[in-house]
Amino acid sequence: MCIRDSITTEQEVAKEKQKNRQFIVQQSKLAEIGEVFSSIAHQWKSPLVEITAIAQDLFYTKKSDSLKENDSYVSDIMKQVDYMTDTINDFQNFIMPSNKKVEFDIKDAIDSMLEIVNHNIKYNNIKINVEVEDNSCLEIYGYKNEFMQSFLNIINNAKDALLSNDYKNRKIDIKLFNENENLVILIQDNGGGIASESLHKVFKAYYSTKNDGHGIGLYMTKMIIEDKMDGHISVENKNAGACFKIKLGHICENISS
Ligand SMILES: Nc1ncnc2c1ncn2[C@@H]1O[C@H](COP(=O)(O)OP(=O)(O)OP(=O)(O)O)[C@@H](O)[C@H]1O
Ligand SMILES: [Mg+2]
Repeated sequence: MCIRDSITTEQEVAKEKQKNRQFIVQQSKLAEIGEVFSSIAHQWKSPLVEITAIAQDLFYTKKSDSLKENDSYVSDIMKQVDYMTDTINDFQNFIMPSNKKVEFDIKDAIDSMLEIVNHNIKYNNIKINVEVEDNSCLEIYGYKNEFMQSFLNIINNAKDALLSNDYKNRKIDIKLFNENENLVILIQDNGGGIASESLHKVFKAYYSTKNDGHGIGLYMTKMIIEDKMDGHISVENKNAGACFKIKLGHICENISS
């Protein structure tokens, strides 16, 4: 085989690998989108019921002569519609892939993500606590949506672990603090942790212990945090559960920690 042939074969293999990665990411996104979408559908139900009730009230009580009362009905409806619009906007922003790096606040990104999955978390009696150490720099330069996607993968895994047994006081503690020029995010659950002999496998593609798992959530998360955002992710068992640690370079100067 001549040199030229071997270069072409290497290029083809690299292309194939790249295609495979894109496919994996796509699959994972679709699975997460399904969950987020059902979350939105749930959140939309109550404002829709509320709007229907307001409209029926207006229709049957024939109060439409009074301009002032009409205004108050309209304003009540608008409040519900605003809430629905916010939810769908969050969702739309979330599914758009971010091609451009931007400056963003990690706490804001975490809060928006939690807002989207909030009902599901509450419904399953899971308490999420977010703690930020004083004077921490939370500004990052990177891909906001992809970060949110990674974060969601970790939260969903914690949720699955917490629901897999009859754990009491289900909780996920999130801590943000600085370590020199890095921003650290700790995500700790109390869902029993990962079998110690499997700790090194969880970031590998297709590793899953779940019946319906694809084993791509954490693979994709590692790819985003480490390959795309130059950060680092690790996991250990701690405090009756798994503790994920994400490190990302922050962009503030003169932060002492
Ligand atoms: N918080 C956790 N507690 C216990 N085990 C965990 C936790 N997070 C991950 N794991 C383990 O790591 C495995 C890999 O996780 P990963 O998110 O990559 O795949 P998955 O959740 O099984 O499937 P999916 O591709 O749908 O996310 C899980 O199947 C589970 O065994
Ligand atoms: Mg997962």
